[in-house]
Amino acid sequence: MSENIIYCYSGSGHCLDMAKSIAKRLGDTDIVMMRSFPEKTDATEAKRVGFVFPCYGGGLPGHVEEYIKAIKIAPDAYKFAVEQFAGYLGCGLHKIDEIVGLDYWNFISNHSTCIWLMPHGLCFPPTSAEKAKERVDQKAMEVAAAVKAMKKSEKKPPKKALFALESSAFSQMHPMRTKKFRVSDACIGCGTCARICPMGNIVLQDGRPGFGTNCIGCLSCVQYCPKEAINVGRITEKRERFPNPNVSAVDLTKKIIHID
Ligand SMILES: Cc1cc2nc3c(=O)[nH]c(=O)nc-3n(C[C@H](O)[C@H](O)[C@H](O)COP(=O)(O)O)c2cc1C
Repeated sequence: MSENIIYCYSGSGHCLDMAKSIAKRLGDTDIVMMRSFPEKTDATEAKRVGFVFPCYGGGLPGHVEEYIKAIKIAPDAYKFAVEQFAGYLGCGLHKIDEIVGLDYWNFISNHSTCIWLMPHGLCFPPTSAEKAKERVDQKAMEVAAAVKAMKKSEKKPPKKALFALESSAFSQMHPMRTKKFRVSDACIGCGTCARICPMGNIVLQDGRPGFGTNCIGCLSCVQYCPKEAINVGRITEKRERFPNPNVSAVDLTKKIIHID
């Protein structure tokens, strides 16, 4: 069992990149992915347990809330969480705090990956993708130093009741979005979309992706298609993809990533 465990959800790699940056500075860390039910839920031997995740629709992505409830943590373990978002924090940190009781929390804005709803360049405060990446790296350094020293946050994360409402409305939009998936002639039938979909919602039929109704809106298929052949309606055709350059489609399909 590793000394530290970071539970991470990541749709386009930015949170996984941050989790890896933190883990490299902590050493001896298992990053357990939460895109599907986590491979390891018994974290009772870990000294530090963390959560790194994006804001999706004002709240936690996918089934993350329910997955976190299944995780067992030792009573004396140090618990921390870091959220990435584009424009606003939402209620994700508050929800995790309610479930596990956080010792430390932090957050950072990165560029929007929700290219279906928001323009790609959205980031608060506005800056270039390169500068935003530098900011995220610095944040990872700050968080790792705090977590290593087991620093405690003075305040609780903000509750933001309005975002709890947005978050429940967002999940109800998934079936509507599913109907809008389109595949262009650029598709080469490589199957990346089928392998990366955390819900197993994409199946290749005659070499082309077919979409079921069990979508959680992560847009990994849109972001990581090597030919940019998958779109949601017409709007994403015009929007730049923004997968994290340090995280591959294969990385996102892993269940546990160990960092020494
Ligand atoms: C489906 C979806 C919903 C999102 N919703 C929000 C949101 O409500 N508020 C916000 O500020 N950012 C939102 N974002 C932006 C992400 O939180 C941000 O880009 C984050 O860095 C993505 O991390 P990831 O690459 O690890 O998934 C959303 C992104 C996606 C894909």
